[in-house]
Amino acid sequence: MRLTQGAPGARVLAFGGYQPADVVTNDDLARRIDTNDEWIQSRVGIKERRIAGPQESEIDLAVQAGGKALAASGLSSSDIDLVIVATCTLEAQIPNASARVANRLGIEAPGAFDVNAACAGFCYALAAASDAVRAGTATNVLVVGTEKLSQWVDWDDRTTAVIFADGAGAAVVGPSDTPRIGPVAWGSAGDKAEAIAVKDRGSFLQQEGQTVFRWATTALHPVAKLACERAGVDPAELAAFVPHQANLRIVEAIARKLGADNAVVARDIVLAGNTSAASIPLALSRMIERGEVPSGGLALLLGFGAGLTYASQVIELP
Ligand code: UT7
Repeated sequence: MRLTQGAPGARVLAFGGYQPADVVTNDDLARRIDTNDEWIQSRVGIKERRIAGPQESEIDLAVQAGGKALAASGLSSSDIDLVIVATCTLEAQIPNASARVANRLGIEAPGAFDVNAACAGFCYALAAASDAVRAGTATNVLVVGTEKLSQWVDWDDRTTAVIFADGAGAAVVGPSDTPRIGPVAWGSAGDKAEAIAVKDRGSFLQQEGQTVFRWATTALHPVAKLACERAGVDPAELAAFVPHQANLRIVEAIARKLGADNAVVARDIVLAGNTSAASIPLALSRMIERGEVPSGGLALLLGFGAGLTYASQVIELP
């Protein structure tokens, strides 16, 4: 038996993001359920979110974001030989999303698999892409996080309806002579699996908000620090910190405990809501578009959510 020889390192060539057109404000929600703008902004940090209509599927969102990342990478569809889609909100589980997304983007016969690690999914998928490039089992990988949470949320349940939203984000990963995607720090806490769940086929997403909040604000900054340590990066060197956009109070609590004093902290939740596996690449694509983060700077990503699952890595920004 032989092993393939991959590249010495992997890097992100480009990001792309996509949000559906329909804006839903806190006041819009307050007309339907017992909530208000002040509560949502102060407890969660969201001002507005985007929701996809019935004509726009999670696959459509992924194709939009993936197409943007591909265009920005300078590669063509024929250069991609692996597509990984991170999602936990497919309308139907079979077939998977990645083969359909690849086909819609004109990527012929790539390896194609989905990752369900909920809101940590993008970081898991990015780690798998980086490892495939380094192992020589893929040359260029399209990684997409896409979610249509609106089809799994009970719009009459104020504990979830105010938080979750729809969107997609993507990255193209390719070979590099030096490591530009750091080793992942990942793990899970399956003893808390019930904290975020869809109980059965007829149910909507439910979460024990306070359980998850406590876990996120106490258990995750050590994971972020471990990802820095594994990459040999001091948190003070980070140009950006992009945690999953779960709740602005969680984002700020982890950022404080991390001590990334020179980093721009992603606060995309304010205008995007919580888009689970899409939130990190969506936030980063918008930070890059707005020129908020420097090309070549170091960014720390931290995904966490249902499972409970978590994953974190340092990347060099494209
Ligand atoms: O992305 C996956 C990972 N998920 C997360 O990271 C979510 C983590 N959890 C959270 O972000 C927060 O726990 C929530 C945003 C879900 C809830 O915020 P909280 O500060 O933990 O609120 P709470 O559940 O303790 O509720 C406080 C009060 C309650 O009223 P009483 O009992 O004090 O009278 C709730 O009934 O707020 C009430 N409440 C609301 N009021 C207005 C709950 N939801 C709402 C609402 N509008 N939408």
